[in-house]
Amino acid sequence: MRALHAILLGATLSLPGEHETRRASSVRPITLRTEYLVDPLALDTRIPRLSWIIDAGTARGVSQSAYQIEVASTAANLAADNADLWNSGETASSHQNQIEYQGAPLTSRRQLFWKVRIWDQRGAPSAWSTPATWSMGLLEKADWSAQWIGDPLPSVGNVAATTLRHEFTLASRPSRAIVYATALGVYELHINGRRVGDHVLAPEFTDYHTRTQYQAYDVTALLQPGANVIAVLLGDGWYAGGIGLAQALIAKPRNIYGDHPRFLAQLEMTSGTGASSRIVTDGSWRTTREGPIRSSDILNGESYDARNEMPGWDQAGFDDSRWTNADVASGIGTQLVAQPNEPIRVTQDVTPISVTEPKPGVYVFDLGQNMVGWARITVRGAAGTTVTLSHAEMLNDDGTVYTDNLRGAQQTDHYTLRGSADRPETFEPHFTYHGFRYVQVTGLATKPGLTDLVGRQVNSALSEASTFETSSPLITKLWQNVRWTQRDNMVGIPTDCPQRDERLGWMGDIQVFSGTSIFNADMGAFFTKWIQDVRDAQTPDGRYADFSPQPFRQRLDEMKRGDFMGVPGWGDAGVVVPWRLWQQYGDRRQLRENYDAAKRWIEFIRVNNPDLLWKNRRGNDYGDWLNADTMNDSTLPRTGGEVPKPVFATMMFAYATDLVSRMAAVLGDSAEATQYRSLFSDIKSAFNSAYVTPDGHIAGNTQAGYALALHFDLLPEDKRAAAVAHMLEGIDAYRGHMSTGFHSTYRMMLELSRAGRSDVAYKLINNTTFPSWGYSIENGATTIWERWDGYVKGRGFQDKGMNSFNHYAIGAVAEWMYRVILGINNDDDHPGYEHFALHPIPGGGLTWAKGSYNSIRGRIASSWRADGPTFTEDVTIPANATATVYVPAKSLERVTESGVPASRSTGVRFVRMEGDAAVFTVQSGTYSFVAR
Ligand code: BGC
Repeated sequence: MRALHAILLGATLSLPGEHETRRASSVRPITLRTEYLVDPLALDTRIPRLSWIIDAGTARGVSQSAYQIEVASTAANLAADNADLWNSGETASSHQNQIEYQGAPLTSRRQLFWKVRIWDQRGAPSAWSTPATWSMGLLEKADWSAQWIGDPLPSVGNVAATTLRHEFTLASRPSRAIVYATALGVYELHINGRRVGDHVLAPEFTDYHTRTQYQAYDVTALLQPGANVIAVLLGDGWYAGGIGLAQALIAKPRNIYGDHPRFLAQLEMTSGTGASSRIVTDGSWRTTREGPIRSSDILNGESYDARNEMPGWDQAGFDDSRWTNADVASGIGTQLVAQPNEPIRVTQDVTPISVTEPKPGVYVFDLGQNMVGWARITVRGAAGTTVTLSHAEMLNDDGTVYTDNLRGAQQTDHYTLRGSADRPETFEPHFTYHGFRYVQVTGLATKPGLTDLVGRQVNSALSEASTFETSSPLITKLWQNVRWTQRDNMVGIPTDCPQRDERLGWMGDIQVFSGTSIFNADMGAFFTKWIQDVRDAQTPDGRYADFSPQPFRQRLDEMKRGDFMGVPGWGDAGVVVPWRLWQQYGDRRQLRENYDAAKRWIEFIRVNNPDLLWKNRRGNDYGDWLNADTMNDSTLPRTGGEVPKPVFATMMFAYATDLVSRMAAVLGDSAEATQYRSLFSDIKSAFNSAYVTPDGHIAGNTQAGYALALHFDLLPEDKRAAAVAHMLEGIDAYRGHMSTGFHSTYRMMLELSRAGRSDVAYKLINNTTFPSWGYSIENGATTIWERWDGYVKGRGFQDKGMNSFNHYAIGAVAEWMYRVILGINNDDDHPGYEHFALHPIPGGGLTWAKGSYNSIRGRIASSWRADGPTFTEDVTIPANATATVYVPAKSLERVTESGVPASRSTGVRFVRMEGDAAVFTVQSGTYSFVAR
């Protein structure tokens, strides 16, 4: 209500005429980013791209007619307008993102300072922005003189973490010191007793055989004249520890990429006089495995024995004479790349809402939220006592934690007390993460207090991009659950789930969820990182993996047991995700970088299916996963939910081909655009002849089949209405519920609205009997469930072999919530929100909705309220953008904007009546439309 009021006030401030008197200097470029990041410390993109947004206050109709970028080698030069690296000069352009640096060639380590100013629509210049900076990473192999070091013994018999340390002397504190660090494993870096950075689980999950990310930290403030120490904890991580499905697929629980964790770092220092020096990892570093982390594993958890702590280990003067010299490895071929995305961090603390004692001495903390990370616990007790923390998403009927659905993942941490008198001891693990709402603690001498434990939420630290609230608590809660599920599954890669022994970058899941994810958060840098993992995993014959990274392919090939590559609807993420980056961020470079890979995928399917029906080579062929046929419910049809697999596959083939043709067009290759366009029409014809009857029935007669065919525009115009009708009949057959699976659920919601049947979509979203989202919410869900019937009162849990309560795929419905309830719709002809539509469709008993999305051009806001015959719609369009705004109204005459007839309002142009809406083109600014 407050926000609504503020928007109304804002609109009042920009009454017609007033903005014309504003001085252009009030418009200012802010939020400067380089390669999607704020002031990155190491980029290895040789031509970085710059972006900003424009703060125009409440002024209307602001656009950018030109910009000037200055880039300098020092902050002082930049301040003096001595742009010694690049001065773009006044460049006539409306572009404000994806602008390529065009200055002097960039070399390793170079730090650059930049600022930008713009000229507005009247040609008046803004003030300069606040300066921003970026630094280049180590671009050449020869830049690295550090060696890969580790404990002399591999992580096989003794799986304790490795501790490494190195002492060195400095004559004075350097004026700039950057440490570049990475591991085959996971590491935590310390200098002089202080933790370096706030990354956790660095260097994160990639295909280490191909590439390994390094991180850069500015450690200038941590160094001192005299003795200094750089020290490291090194765990097994994804490299040498457990990875989901490893046991199931290749009968190997750990050591998938290698069995010997390694660390590599280069501390580079520059003195005031410009002299440079460096400290690198080599055989002179000291190492031990006698430290407190006795074992750590991503899936299983960590065991920590505080009696093994080595006070002062990361400070100068510690006696490491009983340690050994580090072992130096040679011949490690992995390519080192600067981490291009936001690191994994502890992003928030979650406090428990209750603690119970379901059995004597067994305490269960409820965090009130299904989350990801670990618990920090404070305990007291005798030396050598072990406290055990077991993490789970749900409870058994007896109040203990339900762990059956974790399969092979233990998710258990052990802390053994040092027992220092009665002083409290605090523990949190280093090299693991868990998916949980409940923590069951045993081994305590007395009942713990509620504040003795805190949940530490861990995920890739993405900026969250939107807000959303409606008059329906159920729909608002659904949105919150989607958000949590996204947070919980963006851990360096987009995972299917965060708890059981899986946690893989399943491609089908993100293929359907990518649209929602990109409304929820700034995904540009994250997807830039992961889509490289996707290309790394692609086979030479063009198949994308079922999950990326794909750690098992070689072994699966040797075992001749299917290689988890090339599945319809899963592989397609390699095409869909880059396309989303183009739509939302105008990221042409990602289209270019993924175009050949995408073409090879299409070629693989085409060559193996000359009649253009995808019948051959469908790999594991999951189909429209977890559709209603997989539910246990005797009151609903037991078959008829699943669209037949060749039909599904052929539709995915057509869709990906359509996108490749669009990519070619954007990239300016009109010959290939035409070639793939005609392949798309040929697939469409083959699909229609084989699977569509003259009366518009699609083989299988499933809700999903119609939804997908409509969504991918596979039907001739004259059959669309029939397909919609059959889809509605399908919904009736399921007592007004969905029978759709991962791929078709949100697409059916969107197609219902496109067909003018948002009433039915609202009915589905308001359902509280399963299958529905509402069912899970009414049963206490705080994240999205993998299965519609994951838990049913009186029946209990679904198949423990596959029953996650934190799976985002069917949460893709939030894309419908953004596009239909808030009405925010990107425009493919004007990517990156240069132009977009605001077309809210009220319904479902909602009386109001409000929300916002921080697009790459700035904040878009949309809120509406239905009050009897009065409909109020408040919108904000960011500077340098325009929108087509739909206001539900019987006629133009009934619509006002900020109290004047909309036809006469500044910044507003009436276009047409369309159905029951008046349609306007609206310039940037904040507007309040009222229809009576
Ligand atoms: C994962 C899914 C994934 C699927 C493939 C499951 O085990 O959790 O989300 O897409 O396998 O069908």
